[in-house]
Amino acid sequence: MKLLVVSDPHWAGPAELPRRGYEARAMPHRIQRILAAAWRKGFWLADPMAHNDKLDRILALNPDPDLVVANGDYSVDSAFVGISDDAACDSAHRCLNALRAAYGDRLLPVIGDHELGKHSLFGGVGGPRWESWLRLESRLSIPAWWQRDIGRHRLIAVPSTLVALPAFESELLPEEAPFWRAERQRVLSEIRAALTALEADRRIILFCHDPSALPFLAELPEVRDRLPQWESTIIGHLHSPAIARLATLLAGMPILRGLGSSVKRYSTALHRARAWKEFRVRLCPSPTGAQALKDGGWITAEWDPESPAPIPWQHHRLPW
Ligand SMILES: [Fe+2]
Repeated sequence: MKLLVVSDPHWAGPAELPRRGYEARAMPHRIQRILAAAWRKGFWLADPMAHNDKLDRILALNPDPDLVVANGDYSVDSAFVGISDDAACDSAHRCLNALRAAYGDRLLPVIGDHELGKHSLFGGVGGPRWESWLRLESRLSIPAWWQRDIGRHRLIAVPSTLVALPAFESELLPEEAPFWRAERQRVLSEIRAALTALEADRRIILFCHDPSALPFLAELPEVRDRLPQWESTIIGHLHSPAIARLATLLAGMPILRGLGSSVKRYSTALHRARAWKEFRVRLCPSPTGAQALKDGGWITAEWDPESPAPIPWQHHRLPW
């Protein structure tokens, strides 16, 4: 079994490209714009719209995997409302088309936080939108969650934003909140039933875009009962292995209040990050990684599906 995992391609389609500078425009204060520009140019990613070539290169370098998992975040989400924005939906559609053209039904897509929307950094613009959730299946053919058996392993993908919904409550539109809560109950009950029915000798590989969802999963008795069967959890979202290492170091830090909803959400996630350990978390980086380190790429695993040996995950760096 040759498995390829790619994550966070953040494809910029023709309708999103003219929105360069979208993040600064969503910040009301000059000091916020200066801090965000320093963070973006000095470390994170100077121009998030300049990297469509990276996914093409990864696809060209991986012509024949048996299975491909795309671990979420297909558009730039330049309106901060996920794929309810037509321009972001078009970007995500083009990105998934490229993946499907290369791999057909070997592709298993996972839902990222930017498919649904979330508050802009500092600005507090946008958030998850119910229309984005509805469009996942109808426009992008991404199911709410999925599972697939490969030899001794069960691959399970969960929608991280929906699982971590209590952390996003302040970003929801009040009139949409009841729909989100009901959908969370529905999806979680399906996942719990699947775990209850799981054979005791099967190993679990979880795909969960945003690791903030893991402490919420750990609250479920069906998940706790199965932790001894956990092989790996493949996350995305953090883009850079350096950020993933930093997050592990900061696990348990205090929650920062009064600096906006994004800072509170990130610090809450880190406050609860000790739970990641039990899930055997491994990052699939974005194709770019961080601007300062250029530490992006993809991960693969090649194993005998009937072998009980641990999965030999391999990280591949994409130079740029
Ligand atoms: Fe991302």
